[in-house]
Amino acid sequence: MAEEKHSSNVVWHSATVTRERRQSRNKHKSVVLWFTGLSGAGKSTLAHAVEEQLYQLGCSTFVLDGDNVRHGLCGDLGFSKEDRVENIRRVGELAKLFLEAGVMTLTAFISPFRSDRELVRSLMPHGDFLEIYCECPLEVCEDRDVKGLYKKARAGKISDFTGISSPYEEPQKPELIIHTSQYELEVCVGQVIELLRIRGIIT
Ligand code: ADX
Repeated sequence: MAEEKHSSNVVWHSATVTRERRQSRNKHKSVVLWFTGLSGAGKSTLAHAVEEQLYQLGCSTFVLDGDNVRHGLCGDLGFSKEDRVENIRRVGELAKLFLEAGVMTLTAFISPFRSDRELVRSLMPHGDFLEIYCECPLEVCEDRDVKGLYKKARAGKISDFTGISSPYEEPQKPELIIHTSQYELEVCVGQVIELLRIRGIIT
């Protein structure tokens, strides 16, 4: 017999304070900005810098960061393919809740597998998930090696390391590609803000 889903006997409760009401109070739409790319490509730096700008514009914002989330919500997960799939599944569900909460949500996860990113996209209404590829050559990330992890991975002290011993599948049709190694941070921030303006998310 097929296993019953654990949520089979759970009934959804609809909120009276809806996303639309929250958005209208915030005076901006909510959105998920999904930053993806190699470790060291600048996802977190860019996400936090964009958040700073949006915050100063009076927007309601939050950054979900891989390194932070893995200390708590996903503290039980490692870097095997299965664990990464579960990591991104959880974060996707979390981002969806933030979207409902009317928040401009910025996520910074390697999220190396295309199918996982597409799964998260499919959770959100069309146009509310914007994939932003932080493109940076592996050599540059490895050269920077801010956390010293590439060195450890090359020495075989860390297994399943993205770009070294675990794959990264580049986005095929991201909403935006940012070449983080070619432009100053403020230029990259400007590119993201421009995307939000073009999409009518901020005015
Ligand atoms: S993801 O693949 O599941 O999306 P996530 O973004 O949460 O990864 O975490 C990546 C961060 O964990 C990296 O920036 C790096 O600091 C750290 N890390 C530790 N081990 C690994 C590994 N094997 N591969 C990639 N990143 C790792």
